[in-house]
Amino acid sequence: MPNKKLLTPLSNKEIVINSENDAVILALESSCDETACAIVKNGREVLANIVASQIKTHMQFGGVVPEVAAREHLEAVNEVISKAFDEAKVSPDEITAVASTVGPGLVGSLLVGMNAAKTLSVVYDKPFIGVNHLNAHVCANYIDTDLKPPFIALLVSGGHTQIIRVNDYSDSVILGETIDDAAGEAFDKVARLLGLAYPGGPNLDKMADKGNPHAYKFTKAKTDEFDFSFSGLKTAVLQLTKKLSAENPDYPKEDVAASFRENITSVLAEKTLKAAQKFGVKQIVLAGGVAANSEIRRKIKGFENQGYKIYIPAMKYCTDNAAMIGACAYFHDNVFTDLSTEVFSRA
Ligand code: KG4
Ligand code: ZN
Repeated sequence: MPNKKLLTPLSNKEIVINSENDAVILALESSCDETACAIVKNGREVLANIVASQIKTHMQFGGVVPEVAAREHLEAVNEVISKAFDEAKVSPDEITAVASTVGPGLVGSLLVGMNAAKTLSVVYDKPFIGVNHLNAHVCANYIDTDLKPPFIALLVSGGHTQIIRVNDYSDSVILGETIDDAAGEAFDKVARLLGLAYPGGPNLDKMADKGNPHAYKFTKAKTDEFDFSFSGLKTAVLQLTKKLSAENPDYPKEDVAASFRENITSVLAEKTLKAAQKFGVKQIVLAGGVAANSEIRRKIKGFENQGYKIYIPAMKYCTDNAAMIGACAYFHDNVFTDLSTEVFSRA
C-alpha cells in the first residue's frame, strides 16, 4: 500500500499518505492536448473530473502544435481548477496534496500544469506531488475498482507502447516496448493515409467497425519476445492504399482500416497474454489512449475465458485525464515531491 511522508511547503507539517488516513488529492494534467483537473479520494474515488480538450483547435493543423497547445493550457487551467472544486464540493482546506504530471510530454504544456500545481501547493500550504504520466495511465485501473498488484499491464498511448510487469504499487519492470512507432502513433498515421481527420485513432476505430478485418493480411513484425515494431505495418498499409487507389479511387477504405486494426490489436493482445502466462500472473490491465480502441478492449476482455481477471478503465480514464494523475499520486511512492522539480519530455 502507499506510504509517503510529505512536508507542507510553508509550515513544514508532516502529511502521511497511507491506507490508514483519508487523502483527497487535487490533480492536474497538461502533458499534451487536454487540460484536466480532478479531485480524487484515496486513489480510487473520483470526486471531480474536468477535461478541457483542444481537439477543435488542433484539427485545423491535422495534429498537435506544441506552442498552440501550451497557450491553450494557459487559457484553460484556471477554469478547470475552479470547475473541479465546484463539482467535488470540496474546499481547498479539505485537500491533502496537490499533484500534476511532470513528464513525459510537451515541455511547454507540462510547465503550465506543473506550475499551477506548485502555486496551489504554496498558496494552500499543501504538499506537491509530481507524477510520471506513464505510471498514471496504468494507475487509471485503480479508479472505481479493487485492483491490487501483481498484474501485467499493456500500456498503449500516443507516445508509448509497453508491456509492464507490475509487482507492487511502486515496483514494476518493463518487459518490452516498441522499437519504432507507438501503437497510437501507428493508428494516427494510418488514419491520415485513409484521409481521416485528427484525432486519427478514434476515427479509424469507427471506420474499422464497418469493414472486413480479414480482407487484407499484413505480416507481423519479428521482434524480441515482448517488443513491438509497427513501422513496417504502416509502410505495408501505405503501399496497399497506393495500389488500391490506383486501381479504383473509391476502394473500400473500411476494409483496410479493419484489417490494420485486426493486425495491430492481435499483436498487442497476443504478447500481453504471453507475458501473463510466462510470469504466472492472473490479472491483466489495459491502459493509455489506445485502450479506448473497441477491438483491443474486446480482445483483452476475451482473456477472461482463459481464467484471467481483466481490468480496462472507463473510456474517460483511458485518454488523457487528471483522475489518473490523482490515483497515481496516491498509490505510487516513486514521485517527485520537491518544489524545484522540473518537467521532462521523454521517459
Ligand atoms: O494516452 P493518450 O490520450 O495520450 C498520450 O499519452 O499519448 O493517447 C492518445 C493516443 C492517440 O494516438 C489516439 O489516436 C489514440 O490514443 N486513441 C485511439 C483511440 N482513442 C484514442 N487509438 C485507437 N482507437 C481509439 N478508439
Ligand atoms: Zn497519455
